[in-house]
Amino acid sequence: MSAHGSAVVLPSRSPLPSPPVRLLQRTILQWYRRHGRSLPWRGIRDPYRILLSEVMLQQTQVSRVLVKYPLFLKRFPTIAALARARRADVVRTWQGMGYNNRAVRLHALAQEVAARHKGRIPGTEEALTSLPGIGTYTARAILCSAFGMPVSFVDVNIRRLLSRVFQKMPDTGSMVPEPRAREIAEAALDRTHAYDWNQALMDIGATICTARNPLCTACPLARLCISAGSMGAPAPTKKKPERSLYGIPHRIYRGRIIEQLRLSGPRRALPLASLGPKVLPQFGPRHTGWLERLMKGLERDGLVRITSRRGIPVVRLA
Ligand code: ADE
Repeated sequence: MSAHGSAVVLPSRSPLPSPPVRLLQRTILQWYRRHGRSLPWRGIRDPYRILLSEVMLQQTQVSRVLVKYPLFLKRFPTIAALARARRADVVRTWQGMGYNNRAVRLHALAQEVAARHKGRIPGTEEALTSLPGIGTYTARAILCSAFGMPVSFVDVNIRRLLSRVFQKMPDTGSMVPEPRAREIAEAALDRTHAYDWNQALMDIGATICTARNPLCTACPLARLCISAGSMGAPAPTKKKPERSLYGIPHRIYRGRIIEQLRLSGPRRALPLASLGPKVLPQFGPRHTGWLERLMKGLERDGLVRITSRRGIPVVRLA
């Protein structure tokens, strides 16, 4: 016990030193009220708008989402409008966000909500996670933000912050395992201010408690954080290299293909062979198999359709 409140109880094999949780909650909320980011998906309750922001933020930086979010909503202002749209139009509007599979899944989600949930985004974790593109994290973020439920959730920013605050991290590259982070998040959650608490964790995680250069001297939690000021740089690790050709990741070539199909008009089919030189300047006969494999991958992901016209393979946006 501390003068400031009870220590958080962590269900753990080994007891952990932990900061006084009430003080931690108060400190975080005070900081958030003064310094929390003003973002267009904050302070709203519309489940569609919340869901869209969470799907966009899954793999895209806030600065880019800030540009695309209002444009996407202008084009598809409701989940019903999104469900009625052509898939190719949704993918085209998604342009610039990367990971186009998300646009395909979002469109499928809208159609499923129309067909199975009377057009209303469901308000349970089970129903949400059964929708395309919605995992545990996104479902719980939606429950908290759109349905006002006191639930915890853990994205990479929150996991990093909670790891450092509650357990001594040897270096900036270390984090507690995901299940442990969920336990900590649940135990530390401020249930009466769950929304502000979760948004604040995301903001501090994204702007102060950053992955490589945490700004411990500017952190409101410095006095309470077990790892503050003591983390070294992580030992260099060998990352599994991304699949690439001539040093350019396949993901970039996939983006180029989609871009070419968009430019030619979403309904037009292009001969497969004509796309080669447009996505790879040195394209030659030896690259045909490579291009076909990329295309098959895009088809599997529901982004393009490959057909045959007079015996020539042609491709268009799905
Ligand atoms: N990343 C995921 N959800 C977010 C949110 N609501 N605000 C800021 N960044 C986020």
